[in-house]
Amino acid sequence: MSEERKKVTLHTLYRLKAEDKRAVYITAYDYPFALLADRAGVDMILVGDSLAMTVHGYSTTLPITMNEMISHAKAVTRAAKSAFVFGDMPYMSYQPSDRDAIINAGRFIQEAGCDGVKLEGGRRVLSRVKAIVEAGIVVQGHLGLTPQNLGQLGGYRVQGKTKESYQALLDDAKSLEAAGASSLLLEAMPAVTAAKIREQLSIPVYGIGAGDQVDGQLVIIHDILGLFEQFTPKFVKRYCEAGILIKAALEQYAAEVRGGTFPGPQQCYEIAPEERQRILGVGTTAVPS
Ligand code: KIV
Repeated sequence: MSEERKKVTLHTLYRLKAEDKRAVYITAYDYPFALLADRAGVDMILVGDSLAMTVHGYSTTLPITMNEMISHAKAVTRAAKSAFVFGDMPYMSYQPSDRDAIINAGRFIQEAGCDGVKLEGGRRVLSRVKAIVEAGIVVQGHLGLTPQNLGQLGGYRVQGKTKESYQALLDDAKSLEAAGASSLLLEAMPAVTAAKIREQLSIPVYGIGAGDQVDGQLVIIHDILGLFEQFTPKFVKRYCEAGILIKAALEQYAAEVRGGTFPGPQQCYEIAPEERQRILGVGTTAVPS
């Protein structure tokens, strides 16, 4: 996209829903990827705690800290001129108390320049959601497969596959909306479950692995570009194999260094002949050109 896009606001996101247009949502964790996503015209960027796995190499999202999230979020907001940026509240940044929730959500806004925050959970985090909203901060709820309580869920399992599980998700979703959440993200559930939940809410409902009958789609940028190898969920589509491309480039670089063809004349700085001569001195024979 070459033309300057307007800043996406909550109003923009509500208008997209009202006009039945799908919102485009993607994770980004650093300046270069956020710049590319913003220039590609995405509507929302999530600085997800998934960066614990995609960028830091942990096997779950749990070890990542609030300070680390802030550092990544700062890099993203420096790049994202148009997209609405959500900071993802990491494990233990809101679980202990409403006060912790407000302080840490506030850090995403005040220190990192995010537009809103996302946090996992339904009725069990309602007081946190209310507290953050009362502090004037935009909150996105997150239900379904919520990786911060992977232990309780019994691993990476699809949610909402029974009437009872659907009903529990719906009750959570309605409670989040009533508590002031401005939007909701549903992760890893059958399309019909997500569609029925969306139907009964008025806030935008986005999905990641939740089918096509929602108000927009989130993907993890490393998944769709072929940069994450640990595992590939069913809902991931690869749009390119950047990992293969980058590895081939690095192998070529290594071969050229070892073969003495990099750097070539084009990558070397020039110098005026007389200065060259002065540096080399009279009578020198071993002369790099
Ligand atoms: O951290 C993240 O990227 C997320 C998505 C997987 C929903 O929370």
